[in-house]
Amino acid sequence: MLYGAEMAASAPQRPSLRSKTVPLDDYGDNFERPAMIIRDGAIQDVEQMSAFLRQLTASGKRTSPDDEAFVRAHYIEDPDKVRCSVAEADGVILGFQSLKRAGVGNKWGVKPGWGIIGTHIHPAAARRGVGRALFAITRKAAGEAGLSYIDASIAATNPEALAYYEAMGFRTYRTPEGLICKRFDVSV
Ligand SMILES: CC(C)(COP(=O)(O)OP(=O)(O)OC[C@H]1O[C@@H](n2cnc3c(N)ncnc32)[C@H](O)[C@@H]1OP(=O)(O)O)[C@@H](O)C(=O)NCCC(=O)NCCS
Repeated sequence: MLYGAEMAASAPQRPSLRSKTVPLDDYGDNFERPAMIIRDGAIQDVEQMSAFLRQLTASGKRTSPDDEAFVRAHYIEDPDKVRCSVAEADGVILGFQSLKRAGVGNKWGVKPGWGIIGTHIHPAAARRGVGRALFAITRKAAGEAGLSYIDASIAATNPEALAYYEAMGFRTYRTPEGLICKRFDVSV
């Protein structure tokens, strides 16, 4: 298995997730992919989380803030947090999923007491099952927290996210302007 500088020298034109080159399958079949783990997000993850959120913003896939202070306050330390899981491989954060409990008067218009989900996958790690693995953990956390439903409010112009949440079992239940809101029944 090749890592770091050795990997970079072997495949200099391949994309990397950060300055340290990592063996995702962008590198082809000659390289092993490191095992992915799902764990609680922590303060030390904020820098990497913010870095790839900025990439999502630059590609038009994110409109909310993406700076480190926002990530810390709204994902890692949010008082309404139920769980914020990160997917990590070889020290690289591939994505994260946030689950919060909707409060009274929340800005998304979600019924108080329901869950609110957000999923953010590193562009170089998309469509490799990271989101699916994260939702297995989030779903369990929602059940343990006693949530009845989870809301995913998705931009109507985001077909990837619509397809992802539909594949995870979410179904459309309201369509405020510009959004398609899907909900997941935690009891099923
Ligand atoms: C949308 C997103 C969360 C999906 O995460 P992911 O890790 O790429 O998804 P997975 O690889 O686990 O895919 C799970 C299933 O979702 C569906 N899916 C995911 N991405 C898809 C795409 N681009 N097109 C069609 N279906 C897709 C498929 O059914 C897929 O199963 P399959 O690969 O076996 O066919 C991710 O691409 C992302 O973070 N996008 C940018 C940020 C964003 O839009 N977040 C949501 C905001 S509401």
